Amino acid sequence: MAETVGGILTSHVPAIGGAIARGAQNEPYWKPFFDGFLPVHKWLKDAKPDVAVVFYNDHGLNFFLDKMPTFAVGAAKQYNNADEGWGLPLFKSFEGMPELSWHIIETLVADEFDVTTCQEMLVDHALSIPAELSWPKADRWPVKLVPIAINTVQHPLPSPKRCLALGRSVAKALANWPGSERIVVMGTGGLSHQLDGTRAGHINKEYDRFCMDNLGPNPDALTQHTSLEIVDLAGSQGIEILNWIAARGAMGENVTEISRNYHIPISNTAAATMVLETLPAKKLGLAA
Ligand code: DHB
Ligand code: FE
Repeated sequence: MAETVGGILTSHVPAIGGAIARGAQNEPYWKPFFDGFLPVHKWLKDAKPDVAVVFYNDHGLNFFLDKMPTFAVGAAKQYNNADEGWGLPLFKSFEGMPELSWHIIETLVADEFDVTTCQEMLVDHALSIPAELSWPKADRWPVKLVPIAINTVQHPLPSPKRCLALGRSVAKALANWPGSERIVVMGTGGLSHQLDGTRAGHINKEYDRFCMDNLGPNPDALTQHTSLEIVDLAGSQGIEILNWIAARGAMGENVTEISRNYHIPISNTAAATMVLETLPAKKLGLAA
């Protein structure tokens, strides 16, 4: 039986790639952020996932404003990283797992999510930065990838409620997957940030704390705001929290918090990292 081991949530600021490429992890500006990944590495050593299901947003690389799916699921054998990357090497492609992708797509469509299916897909910093942070200096990625892109870029945006429901449908698909893989869910982007306009640099510690406090025990609390209200609260790119919300839905009903890091700023962003571990039903005394 496949097992969902939990989830990693992290910001995906491209400048992190430059810091990795320069080996600047221990510089005073970067250390408080990179230190947040020490518990992630420790957790991954035990969790040993074989597959990563990653909720992220494309930033104009694979999809542009002329064609923007609300939800797109990758079903490719391989995903090339084609982001400019700010110094992060581009050579490491991700190996896909098309059979699991199609199983997830079947479940999503049966649950009436009309997703776009992508048998070719380029991925950007929203995928490569979290992977490099989680598995630093790996010659090749130790996990196969199922990428799920959520539109956080072009209005109208999906609601947090819909994104949580999408994630829960993915959780159902993973629970029904007959393989023996260990699956880690990832959600990338956020937390509060705005890159342009008169509110460039906008950060909202209070809203970020609300998200981090509730994501594990009470994710439905994050659906009380509309997407436009979140743009107002968290900034026009802070809406990337939709990826975290969907990822949380895919982790299963009950999780426990393993680690949390919050650091302002990295570039324009309130940078955050969390690990939530999925609690198997039997640990809760629910199994037969
Ligand atoms: C930054 C943050 C992002 O999420 C992104 O996609 C690009 C840039 C930033 O803070 O610089
Ligand atoms: Fe982003």
